[in-house]
Amino acid sequence: MELALLALSLVLLCSAGLTRSLTITSVDQSVFEKAQGEKVMLPCTFELLEEDEGPLDIEWVFIPADNPEKEQVIIMYAVGRIYNHCNPTEIGRVHFTNPYPRCGDGSLDIMNLKAADTGTYQCKVKKVPGVQSKKIQLTVLVKPAGTKCSIEGSQEIGKDLTLKCASREGSPLLSYDWRRVSGPQELPATSMLNKNTGELLLKNVSQEDSGVYNCVASNRVGTDECSIELNVTPQSVCWVMVM
Ligand SMILES: *[C@@H]1O[C@H](CO)[C@@H](O)[C@H](O)[C@H]1NC(C)=O
Repeated sequence: MELALLALSLVLLCSAGLTRSLTITSVDQSVFEKAQGEKVMLPCTFELLEEDEGPLDIEWVFIPADNPEKEQVIIMYAVGRIYNHCNPTEIGRVHFTNPYPRCGDGSLDIMNLKAADTGTYQCKVKKVPGVQSKKIQLTVLVKPAGTKCSIEGSQEIGKDLTLKCASREGSPLLSYDWRRVSGPQELPATSMLNKNTGELLLKNVSQEDSGVYNCVASNRVGTDECSIELNVTPQSVCWVMVM
């Protein structure tokens, strides 16, 4: 008796596997890259077949890139209702794109993106015997911000000094570029620029190197800048006054 039941359920399972059932039709794009504050639509459209006769369930699972153990369901459609999980950081930011996902559109909208939204999103659509899922990768990049310029070293003729530029925020890869915005526009011939650290090394400075310098920090989603004035003066002559 028990064996017969087991055999029957095996047959049922196998036939479910073989039947053509619901399909997820949005398959073209599975990698998204956005800037913080923007919105994104993660597509998950599907087609049901007549064989799919169970209740329709749609579920979005989020697996954070920086903490994969914290996998969580963020929104769900089940038994004709939408369950929008009330994680405080998501309130009002996460919706089904279509208010009636049962009609074949389980796409997800996320508004006002944050860096912490970076990770894997899995759309699972179930209407037994049909079960399908699709994974989407989302990266939320932060624009450079809070960029500050400074000068390290003495601003005296003949000395070496470094113009420094650093952004407080900004996703990698950040790149820095310096230019002179007063007088001769080109950088001094002996200067050495490190685009990764934002440092511009000036050797054996002369008064002609004086002027306003501008640094632009940039990454794939934005730019930020700062300026600083370099004022090269003759070497101090304090000892003359002491005499
Ligand atoms: C520094 O620059 C001056 C001219 O600006 C030049 O005469 C001198 O030789 C330079 N010194 C060094 C160490 O390069």
